[in-house]
Amino acid sequence: MTEILEIDENSLAFAKRIIKEGGAVAFPTETVYGLGANAFDTAAVNGIYKIKGRPSDNPLIVHVHKDYDIGGLVRDIPQYAEKLKEEFLPGPLTMVFKSRGAVSPVVSCGLDTLAVRVPSHSGAQKFLKYVDLPIAAPSANISKHVSPTSAQHVLADLEGKIPLILDGGRCSGGIESTVLDCTGEIPVILRSGLVTREMIEKTVGACGEYAYKEGGVARSPGMKYKHYSPSCRTAMFGWNELQKALELYDEETAKGVKTLILCEESVISLLGGRKYVSLGKTPEEMASRLYAKLRECEKTAELIVAVAPEERGGVMAGVMNRLSKACGNGYER
Ligand code: TXA
Ligand code: MG
Repeated sequence: MTEILEIDENSLAFAKRIIKEGGAVAFPTETVYGLGANAFDTAAVNGIYKIKGRPSDNPLIVHVHKDYDIGGLVRDIPQYAEKLKEEFLPGPLTMVFKSRGAVSPVVSCGLDTLAVRVPSHSGAQKFLKYVDLPIAAPSANISKHVSPTSAQHVLADLEGKIPLILDGGRCSGGIESTVLDCTGEIPVILRSGLVTREMIEKTVGACGEYAYKEGGVARSPGMKYKHYSPSCRTAMFGWNELQKALELYDEETAKGVKTLILCEESVISLLGGRKYVSLGKTPEEMASRLYAKLRECEKTAELIVAVAPEERGGVMAGVMNRLSKACGNGYER
């Protein structure tokens, strides 16, 4: 049985017991919900891969509370990373450093690096402080499904598979943390998120961005996998391809396929009464709603026709990355 409990002294004590015994607990963060286990405990970490059905070569992020000394986990923290820590932590930024090999090797799938994150969500901080252990945690969804931004989303994916979901309400950020490689001369973004390239450049002067090419070696192994996919068929069009999107909608609807258009708010007036779900107006709003909207769509639609928002850069880089991974693989699948 899976319990959903508000975060208080009782649920935290329960969570701690589960973690100490080598189990997994779902907990809120400001980005998405995580599925956490003791990072020192190999069997517990293996359990996470098993619960999610996650490929065993996709490494996990270690989460710690804000007063935890990460110097015991990683080494060679460059000056620019100190500045970024100062500016953005606690918050939705994950930093990859050389590992000291203190945590179980299955956390990083045998890589010599370790990804570390200090979430800002008060519930996450309470949980991490209470257990006072580094917690290895991927997003708390079944592998390749849409990430969860509420306790109910976690339950929908993991009911009966974990004993406890700590309920910290809806995640405000909505897309996963920025993953930043801090092992080189300059920081390099491996996964875009709410801490944007522009924000990092402003703080430390330079920031690279790693683009994974199909079939190549992935610096962040998560990149090469299909992700964030709703359970129905999907199609994706550019912001300037609205006519094509509407044609597909009409064709499929005529065949009796339940179709929904997923788009930004400014497009709604151009849809001529077709059924839609709105992502919202601002990039931050779209990030915060994206996964909940994808989960809402898949409940009723057989086909989601996504129309990409027009704006680019900043937070939209992360939104577009997730939206195209979720809906970008063509509608014939
Ligand atoms: O916001 C988040 O980051 C959420 C919450 C729960 O904290 N977590 C999350 O975890 O999104 P997950 O497992 O779904 O994604 C982790 C990403 C993957 O793309 C993985 O490849 C990358 O981080 N990663 C982990 N360790 C790495 C490492 N040592 N080097 C490079 N990339 C790494
Ligand atoms: Mg994930």
